[in-house]
Amino acid sequence: MILGVNVDHVATVRQARLGVEPDPVIAASLAILGGADGITIHLREDRRHIQDRDLDLLKEIVPVELNLEMAATREMISIAKKKRPDMVTLVPEKRKELTTEGGLDIKRNRHTLQRAIKTLQDSNIFVSLFINPSKNDIDLSKTIGADMVEIHTGQYANRKGRQQDKELIRVIDAINKAVAVGLEANAGHALNYTNVSQIAEHKDIRGLYIGHSIISRAVLVGIERAVREMKELMDKARKTG
Ligand code: PXP
Repeated sequence: MILGVNVDHVATVRQARLGVEPDPVIAASLAILGGADGITIHLREDRRHIQDRDLDLLKEIVPVELNLEMAATREMISIAKKKRPDMVTLVPEKRKELTTEGGLDIKRNRHTLQRAIKTLQDSNIFVSLFINPSKNDIDLSKTIGADMVEIHTGQYANRKGRQQDKELIRVIDAINKAVAVGLEANAGHALNYTNVSQIAEHKDIRGLYIGHSIISRAVLVGIERAVREMKELMDKARKTG
């Protein structure tokens, strides 16, 4: 099963100072050393975290699957055609949202999505659609020509107990349905170290796309070493200064 690591939040920290660190490109290289099978970035219309330069560099250096999340806009389609990531995941995008809030409204945007899928596929890019765990949306995804779907796991991840069990069934049913109609089935959003196993045990899932929990954990497990290294530099300077 593929683990696609989303490095957007490394860029979020960089953009807090509009500087050069931490660099999501370096984070991607380290993630690959750690076993990531893919790297995901979401190039948003407002460029709030990932920048065009990140896509350029990642395209050059990433030896595993590069997944570009984007809205199906003219600007983004033109960028994807030029940069040719291995795959594009089309997502809905709202200016004010903190993160992608729900799956695509395929019914409403059917023609735009269909055109986007065809254009991207003509450039040899695999196209995935980020959708809610709805059988209807899976049928529609197949009808408009997608190669894959990514089932939104947000509702599953944010619930507890029985409610969570219900949402798990919805996700698994959606995965089964996607595979049955001939789509590759991925899943993602809000998966973390406590809720991933119940999803990952499902054998028909092609890949999981995870960002926030991995970057959050990386910050915490890295703090001790980061402080120690700074302290060593200070102590050494005192001794030699
Ligand atoms: N999949 C899609 C389509 C997303 O938009 C996101 C968030 O950028 C993710 C997966 C990863 O979600 P999280 O950061 O909650 O792991």
